[in-house]
Amino acid sequence: MPDPILEVKELNVSYGAFQAVKDVSFGVYGGEIFGLLGPNGAGKTSTLSAVEGLLHPVSGTVTVAGFDTREKPLHARANMGVQLQATSFQPELTIAEIIRLFASIYGVDLQDDAVKRKLAEISLEEAAGKKISQLSGGQQQRVSLVISTIHDPQLVLLDEPTTGLDPQSRRQLWERMEHFRNNGHAVLLTTHSMEEAEAVCDRIAIIDHGRIIAIDTPEALIEKHRHDPEVLKVVRKGKVTLEDVFIGLTGTAVRP
Ligand SMILES: Nc1ncnc2c1ncn2[C@@H]1O[C@H](COP(=O)(O)OP(=O)(O)O)[C@@H](O)[C@H]1O
Ligand SMILES: [Mg+2]
Repeated sequence: MPDPILEVKELNVSYGAFQAVKDVSFGVYGGEIFGLLGPNGAGKTSTLSAVEGLLHPVSGTVTVAGFDTREKPLHARANMGVQLQATSFQPELTIAEIIRLFASIYGVDLQDDAVKRKLAEISLEEAAGKKISQLSGGQQQRVSLVISTIHDPQLVLLDEPTTGLDPQSRRQLWERMEHFRNNGHAVLLTTHSMEEAEAVCDRIAIIDHGRIIAIDTPEALIEKHRHDPEVLKVVRKGKVTLEDVFIGLTGTAVRP
């Protein structure tokens, strides 16, 4: 087995006295889409923020492409692409200008025809001269993903990337993730959608109350837990689904 591109070991994250992430460990390999699946407040964003270096964990280590994010933050950062919110882009610039701006920030030399090719990859050739606010949510997401991966990072991080997207846009984003995966990149996404986890993730970790409670392929998780009493209690349609396993493992109480 090769080394994972992302390795998280015994990660603990706290906000004051409240511990949001508890002893979380997992690895994401090249050529893999890994999903962090959990209900609201489970600790998904906190885990991702610690990986991105946006918040300092109480303890634990995060390694990206072999670089410890605390010891070699710049090297680690250079190997990760973090999807930004469309709202963080300069509203007065055109899409082509934003792409060129971020390319220069990342130190990537991107000529006009390369910008065109990038836009063609996401079926947005005609958007080059438009402002970000003139695009639909799905189109904004695609631009955002192109920008976050402009330096061809080994690891791509996405926090609930498809929330609020229509089915077509969601499919397109899934295809982009599969494109990265098929090119040997490691993709880590968070989601509370079982459908998404089942549709695109090669492996998932179910996280609840800050702890990983299961980690495997969606199929293996269903197989492993199909006879659990908690799962059998919540099965909806006779056939055990990932959602039944998820609800069985995390409980039926609605999270705020
Ligand atoms: N800045 C913060 N200050 C205090 N508590 C926070 C902060 N951010 C998140 N939390 C708490 O940490 C827990 C995990 O949050 P989060 O990682 O955002 O969960 P998720 O992304 O899975 O919905 C929640 O209980 C949330 O209320
Ligand atoms: Mg979140």
